[in-house]
Amino acid sequence: MSGFVDKPEPIEVPGLVHLHTGKVRDLYQNEAGDLVMVASDRISAYDWVLPTEIPDKGRVLTQLSLWWFEQLADVVPNHVLSTDLPEGAPADWQGRALVCKSLRMLPVECVARGYLTGSGLAEYNETRTVCGLALPEGLTDGSELPAPIFTPATKAAVGEHDENVPYEEVARQVGAETAAQLRQATLAVYGRGRDIARDRGIILADTKFEFGFDGETLVIGDEVLTPDSSRFWPADQWEPGRPQPSYDKQFVRDWLTSPDSGWDRRSEQPPPALPEHVVSATRARYVEAYERLTGTSWS
Ligand SMILES: Nc1ncnc2c1ncn2[C@@H]1O[C@H](COP(=O)(O)OP(=O)(O)O)[C@@H](O)[C@H]1O
Ligand SMILES: [Mg+2]
Repeated sequence: MSGFVDKPEPIEVPGLVHLHTGKVRDLYQNEAGDLVMVASDRISAYDWVLPTEIPDKGRVLTQLSLWWFEQLADVVPNHVLSTDLPEGAPADWQGRALVCKSLRMLPVECVARGYLTGSGLAEYNETRTVCGLALPEGLTDGSELPAPIFTPATKAAVGEHDENVPYEEVARQVGAETAAQLRQATLAVYGRGRDIARDRGIILADTKFEFGFDGETLVIGDEVLTPDSSRFWPADQWEPGRPQPSYDKQFVRDWLTSPDSGWDRRSEQPPPALPEHVVSATRARYVEAYERLTGTSWS
């Protein structure tokens, strides 16, 4: 079992048509045909959208993505058209609603990895490969890879698991030329992001992008280089050979899998509400990632 514990209702705004409720973001279309993407405070873990929100998360993710889009502007064009609040939208959308170009999205989670962990580590331990790419012996949880790699995954529906796929499978799905463009753009954006994060004492272990076409032009969409789409590790605590502390949902995952939650991941039961200390520690992690990366204070 997985999905939404409580599925949110779309907001009625004159002039906007609701298109989709994602795990974290709600999509609307405005009268010009552009996309209005609204980041909520929802948080997901273990394929569930949890019943508890993290205050400010939607605005932190939106503002961090905007900051990155600027840093990346010479590497790849992005989908942002305006940060103005659409007329008639609720005031609390301020800072978390973006008007974007509606792209023809490619059904590929474009993952770049510079370090080994997570599903990459699991595959490596079985076969010494990640997404079919051969890697040297002797790597462990948290090891830096000899060079960053493109490890695409299929995009799964809410409540389902993304699955790593070999590059050849992406080429079959989107065509060889587009696949090559995706790999090139993914590694270029990762490289820029990694260098900027490193200067700020943060390791960008891996990250996921989504691209689409605006006419013939490949454009980066969705969110970029946020704690929801990336593994950020404090560089001063990096120590391969064990799981690394990270700027994301670690507190949430740890609590959900601890006896305190009373929840069994493998059961059919939805996860419980988060206690206040987990909410505030998680909010603080997101804010700290924003502040360290952008060098500006949140409030
Ligand atoms: N510019 C864009 N044009 C069309 N769709 C987009 C664009 N940017 C992002 N999206 C889509 O918007 C959705 C973002 O909401 P999210 O909560 O992340 O959903 P998901 O549950 O699919 O991860 C994703 O499905 C993403 O593919
Ligand atoms: Mg998403």
